[in-house]
Amino acid sequence: MKTSAACCFGGIILCIGLSLRATGSSQIQLVGSADPVVALAGDDVILPCYLEPNVSAVDMMVEWTRSDLKTQRVHLYREGRDSNGEQLPSYRGRTTLFKEELKNSNVSLKLTGVTLSDAGDYKCFIPILTRETTIPLIVGAVSQPVISINGTKDWGVVLKCDTGGWYPQPELEWLDSHGNVLSATEPTETSNSTETEINPEGRYTVRRYVTIRNTVNNRFTCRVVQPQINQTRETQIHVPDDMFPSVWWIVGIIIPAVAAIAAVVVLFYFRRKQRHKLKKEVKKNLDLQTKLDTEERIRQHVEEKVVGFLDARRPKLVDNVTKVMPLADALRPMIQQQDYSDICAAGTNVEKMRVLFTTVDSGGEKVKSAFYKSLMKEEPDLVLDILKEEPDRVINLLGEELDIYPKTDVVDDDPPDESGSNRVEMIEMQPLLGPGSETERGGRQAVDALEDQEREEGRQAVDALEDQEREEGRQAVDALEDQEREEGRQAVDALEDQEREEGRQAVDALEDQKREEERQAVDALEDQEREEGRQAVDALEDQEREEGRQAVDALEDQEREEERQAVDALEDQEREEGRQAVDALEDQERGGGRQAVYALEDQEREEGRQDVDALEDQERGGKTGC
Ligand SMILES: *[C@@H]1O[C@H](CO)[C@@H](O)[C@H](O)[C@H]1NC(C)=O
Ligand SMILES: *[C@@H]1O[C@H](CO)[C@@H](O)[C@H](O)[C@H]1NC(C)=O
Ligand SMILES: *[C@@H]1O[C@H](CO)[C@@H](O)[C@H](O)[C@H]1NC(C)=O
Ligand SMILES: *[C@@H]1O[C@H](CO)[C@@H](O)[C@H](O)[C@H]1NC(C)=O
Ligand SMILES: *[C@@H]1O[C@H](CO)[C@@H](O)[C@H](O)[C@H]1NC(C)=O
Repeated sequence: MKTSAACCFGGIILCIGLSLRATGSSQIQLVGSADPVVALAGDDVILPCYLEPNVSAVDMMVEWTRSDLKTQRVHLYREGRDSNGEQLPSYRGRTTLFKEELKNSNVSLKLTGVTLSDAGDYKCFIPILTRETTIPLIVGAVSQPVISINGTKDWGVVLKCDTGGWYPQPELEWLDSHGNVLSATEPTETSNSTETEINPEGRYTVRRYVTIRNTVNNRFTCRVVQPQINQTRETQIHVPDDMFPSVWWIVGIIIPAVAAIAAVVVLFYFRRKQRHKLKKEVKKNLDLQTKLDTEERIRQHVEEKVVGFLDARRPKLVDNVTKVMPLADALRPMIQQQDYSDICAAGTNVEKMRVLFTTVDSGGEKVKSAFYKSLMKEEPDLVLDILKEEPDRVINLLGEELDIYPKTDVVDDDPPDESGSNRVEMIEMQPLLGPGSETERGGRQAVDALEDQEREEGRQAVDALEDQEREEGRQAVDALEDQEREEGRQAVDALEDQEREEGRQAVDALEDQKREEERQAVDALEDQEREEGRQAVDALEDQEREEGRQAVDALEDQEREEERQAVDALEDQEREEGRQAVDALEDQERGGGRQAVYALEDQEREEGRQDVDALEDQERGGKTGC
């Protein structure tokens, strides 16, 4: 029995051994996985392991252990069933073999609910074949990143991407809508620093901030990558436009600022304009005032002179003034009531005038002036007549006033009582004023002009003064006082400084320029003159040399020619003279005899006739002479 059992057992062994030999047990391989098996925490994972070639493993013992842990059993299959009595507690209930696959040589282990601590090297071992293979298991952990808006910074929005529970440590990056990594383009303080935390389980939490600017669509992506477990998680966010502070910046700050600046500018502009206008007005007023003052001064001066002039003609006035009472009335506020009554009481106009003059004399300069003014008003014709009597004086006054005539030594202040001194003065004037008739006409014209001018100027001045002053005076005066007191001094100072400065600069510049130009001109002139001089000298020398040579040539030619001619002439002459001499000699010799004969004949004939004539004359003369 014992032997049969032993024989039977041995038979089984033999049987298996035979069958193994039949299939070639030395050729059987156990195949696992060259690459690590990757799983995420919580997943179910299959650790592959099978026999090659394809033989059944149903009757074999299969042992799965963690080779990185010491003799720690993960799963054991023996005698056709699982035998997990000594299994690691952490694997209890989580490991299975695929029973249906055993016969197909598939001894892969299924592990459910993988945890991070499951990661490690798993050994698949079949003792009977003494074959084993190791399969590494990597367990990762991931989670979806979370984006939140952390607030605003500068003109951008700060986004936060947060993701926790990762294993191994992941990488986190921010991307814009085109997939560009933001940390590279936005190297702000926070954009390049990833905060990393690790929890007691060994899981990682990573966090990263980014400051973004307003873009076209404002779509941003937070991407978390773990290359070891080939895991990527992304989350997108769309940031609304109104989150960006730039909008608020524009609306809340720029627009009010622009408005404020515009307001300031407009205010400044109007203020400036107003000031300018005021300044112009003030200047206009000042000009007008100056003109009026000048006119008034001239008028007063002429009036004074006329008054003085008229004052010296009292007798005439006493005799001729008819409107005495209106004159007295005009003076009434200035003179004593008693004097006025005296004037009224006087019998005739002449007497009234005498009394009036007495009153005027006792009243002083003011009364006198008023008297003559009203006289001019009441008795213009009379005044004009008096003025016309001695127009030269008026012309002088006017001329003096208008600077037409040279100043004379006339003393107008003390009215000339004696007409003698006045006459002297007039005689002295005479040469300046030309012939009498002209003087008279000039006088009349001057008087007319004076009248016209005075009347016209007076009326215009008064009108202008009244209108202008009434219209603008108050404003102008107010403006003048306020504005001038406030700004006038500064403006004038600034203007003067500026003008002085500009004037000096302009003068300097002008002087410099003039000096420079003069120097240049002088230089140029000198150069030119020197150049021209040299050229002229050269030309002259050349010319002289040329002329000299020509003259010498000409002289030589001439001399040579003359010599030749002279020689020729001499020769000719000599030849000619010789011939002539010969001819003459011959002729002379020839003619000598003949002429001598002729001369003798002639002489004889002549002497005969003369004798006859003398005889006849003698006879005739003897008859007539008594
Ligand atoms: C073994 O053979 C069976 C049937 O031919 C097949 O279904 C199975 O997949 C094979 N096993 C392996 C590991 O190739
Ligand atoms: C073993 O069996 C499991 C479960 O059916 C299967 O997923 C795996 O692919 C098999 N392995 C091989 C090598 O056929
Ligand atoms: C994010 O917000 C928190 C509070 O809301 C703040 O303490 C922290 O400084 C902010 N971080 C950044 C980068 O703005
Ligand atoms: C971000 O930081 C890493 C290291 O911390 C550095 O190598 C990289 O150049 C930095 N990038 C920028 C844009 O600053
Ligand atoms: C990583 O995973 C993707 C799909 O998620 C796959 O297409 C790719 O081949 C994997 N890469 C590696 C190296 O495993």
